[in-house]
Amino acid sequence: LLTIDARRPGPTVPSRLGGIFFEDINHSGEGGLYAELVSNRSFMADPRAPLHWSALGGATIALDPTAPLNEALTRSLRITVRGPGSGAANDGYWGIPVRPATTYRASYFAKADGHTGPLTLALTGTDGTVYARTAAPAPGRDWRRYDLTLRTPPTAPATMEARLTVTTAGTTGTTGTLWLTQVSLFPPTYRNRPNGLRPDLMAALAALRPAFLRFPGGNYLEGNVIADRFDWKKTIGPVERRPGHRNSAWGYWSTDGLGLPEYLQMAEDLDCEPVLCVYAGYSLKGEHVTGEALRPFVQDALDQIEYITGPATSPWGARRAADGHPAPYPLTYVEVGNEDWFDTSGSYEERYAAFHDALTRTYPHLKLIATTPVRSRPYDLIDEHYYRSPAAFAAGAHLYDRRDRATPKVFVGEWAAQEGRPTPNLRAALGDAAWLTGILRNSDHVVMSCYAPLFSHVRDNIWATNLIAYDGLTSYHSPSSYAQQLLRSHRGDTVLPTEVRALPGLSAVTTRDHRTGRLYVAVVNTGGTPRTTSVRIDGIRTIEPSGRAEILSGPGPEATNTLSDPTAVVPRSVPLNGLGTRFTYTFPAYSVTVLRLHGG
Ligand code: AHR
Repeated sequence: LLTIDARRPGPTVPSRLGGIFFEDINHSGEGGLYAELVSNRSFMADPRAPLHWSALGGATIALDPTAPLNEALTRSLRITVRGPGSGAANDGYWGIPVRPATTYRASYFAKADGHTGPLTLALTGTDGTVYARTAAPAPGRDWRRYDLTLRTPPTAPATMEARLTVTTAGTTGTTGTLWLTQVSLFPPTYRNRPNGLRPDLMAALAALRPAFLRFPGGNYLEGNVIADRFDWKKTIGPVERRPGHRNSAWGYWSTDGLGLPEYLQMAEDLDCEPVLCVYAGYSLKGEHVTGEALRPFVQDALDQIEYITGPATSPWGARRAADGHPAPYPLTYVEVGNEDWFDTSGSYEERYAAFHDALTRTYPHLKLIATTPVRSRPYDLIDEHYYRSPAAFAAGAHLYDRRDRATPKVFVGEWAAQEGRPTPNLRAALGDAAWLTGILRNSDHVVMSCYAPLFSHVRDNIWATNLIAYDGLTSYHSPSSYAQQLLRSHRGDTVLPTEVRALPGLSAVTTRDHRTGRLYVAVVNTGGTPRTTSVRIDGIRTIEPSGRAEILSGPGPEATNTLSDPTAVVPRSVPLNGLGTRFTYTFPAYSVTVLRLHGG
């Protein structure tokens, strides 16, 4: 029996209950959401070799630390060219993806010595096929930026095998030395933003209807050591002035082209609020900062908040305006650090206190999120993280039922049932969905939550189970992503007490939309048998006989989506009849169902 009691409405669903958490893991940013196609574009990834670059047509290439573009980009690529067709190629992130009838924005800084001829910029297949080509002027003796477009014809294939090539053109002036740096190639981006994001991945995030964007990490925020932290001041301004940093937590270079301005623009484009995680003086291998030494880090956080929220007349607000966004961004929640329970030195108490005092003094309206309990200062939310088996997640649907409401409210800032690679299978999605029934039921106390990690490139699946995966050309939603979309888009504003009796494997929650009178009964069946269930609704006079069921299910718990079969597990919508305040419904095996009922 499943009973719903509309006489005793429960919590109002918090407006920020469901968000997203983005960090650069599994090439989520570089080679992923950040649409740049050239890998190691500014030669900063490795001081020993020009990774991802190769010589063409008898040229020799080398890193040149004596020919920096500026104080941020301290190395360039020196190319000794030896005749026509001589130059260098970049192989991108597991190849440069090419599509038919597409315009690419290319740019680079170049200079020359001895070499006087023009260049050719092209997208070339490994077999020599040229997919797009454009002529480029002869570089002069001093650094200069060049902007070009490359356009593929309608007959071009969709392939991930291309390289970007820069070679000498013509037959004269083709010997000598060329230098290149900040070599960039962008396909069309989301909303056509310069230095922008990949449209299909942004559309995938928009489908999740996030209320907020937690960023930039996660371990990515902290780095293995302090020097590798997300040092936001080095991630703003023109991209050729951003040195980049080692993403030591996840093992690759970050250009910081996806920097603070881009994260904020991303939140705005997704129509959601940024939730900022500030670096709080602790890095993953245990380095931590206390006392006087903490001051600059606290100041960095204050400046960061001014960059985000200050008027364009304030010093850091002016920097934001110069970066293209004169209007301040909204900001309500700031998280101090990440997973500081790992800091066995116990320094979080002191570190949190220092950030708390400075931040609340300057920005008293801000709400602070602590990452582990603190005694000496208050916090508005505590961030809790859960990575467990699908079964543990299904059981966890009741975790917060028992939480003492006198304790601080909760932000579940990272959670995910762990099964499936690179994305969760149906069993994990069911665990996730059951867990979400518990989050919604307890949303008087758990007021924000977001799944993690969001993204994995299929070629760099460091963290096993991620919500959405992709290669250079295409992407797909996992069953868990569909389950979350289903539960988020079929939800009312008030939780109604819902009880499931004698039905092992079922988790349920009901919400009511007071504007439309609709009831949304969300039921997860983690079991392998269909469950025929009597449903009783008390406290509502009439329920219209017809409604709809939104159902996500699959042939078995291992069913999953992949790049080659992206729609193996997708939701379907079916009409319902014979509804009322009492009816019977059979919840399919391995399913998430939302019954949409119209109450009178
Ligand atoms: O989501 C992956 C990692 O898990 C995050 O970077 C970290 O906060 C957690 O340990």
